Amino acid sequence: MPKTKYKRVLLKLSGEALAGENKTGINSQVLGQMADDIVQAIDLGVEMGIVIGGGNIFRGVAASAQGMDRASSDYMGMLATCINALALQDALEKKGLATRVQSAIEMAEIAEPYIRRKAMRHLEKRRIVIFAAGTGNPYFTTDTAAALRAMEINADVILKATKVDGVFDKDPALHPEAEKFDQLTYIEVLKRGLKVMDSTAISLCMDNKLPIVIFNLTEAGNVARVISGEQIGTIVSHD
Ligand code: GTP
Repeated sequence: MPKTKYKRVLLKLSGEALAGENKTGINSQVLGQMADDIVQAIDLGVEMGIVIGGGNIFRGVAASAQGMDRASSDYMGMLATCINALALQDALEKKGLATRVQSAIEMAEIAEPYIRRKAMRHLEKRRIVIFAAGTGNPYFTTDTAAALRAMEINADVILKATKVDGVFDKDPALHPEAEKFDQLTYIEVLKRGLKVMDSTAISLCMDNKLPIVIFNLTEAGNVARVISGEQIGTIVSHD
């Protein structure tokens, strides 16, 4: 089995990415590609937890900006992550991977409740654990849920999947001259207001010295590349 840089990882997937060109909903082709990438990474022998967002179905922050009660809209966003978690579970199981979905909001007919010790056992048995419903609390993003779960399962790193190659000094979609950072510290991210993750998630990672690798998921094979230790994307850490 090839050697990997990390033994246990927390992969953070965005809900929006699942929509592909459709912008909303779930694009089965994109979902299939994500699953292929995950299969490739798992074949390297890594243990993986996954947190997936829900923005392709419902964006709590956007709805609250339009006047909806923030807590209600955040709960709707959490439910959206459950739909994506089940879709991802289905796609991964079709490729032969063992998975378990654990939800931070109890819905026993649909998913296991989040129980940390059970999640750890699943991971030890090489099952992918998909953590649904964020942290179960409004006002917390799925990035914060990813940081929290990563810490709880003793992950070595958070792999934050995006549509671009890493973290840039400006939005690369608007500024072609934008420069990519290979390495950043948590403090630099916070001071420069770089849009890596929200400040709660970054602070949590900083306080617990959990590195974050931001990489491009639209390029096939990148999850495995990061796990193998290839220097792609941007790494955010203490030094
Ligand atoms: P082991 O303890 O290692 O055998 O793990 P396991 O997950 O295979 O055992 P378990 O009997 O807990 O689960 C069997 C199946 O039922 C798995 O697909 C679980 O995801 C599912 N499952 C377990 N608990 C719940 C629950 O509370 N709700 C739902 N919907 N499914 C559950």
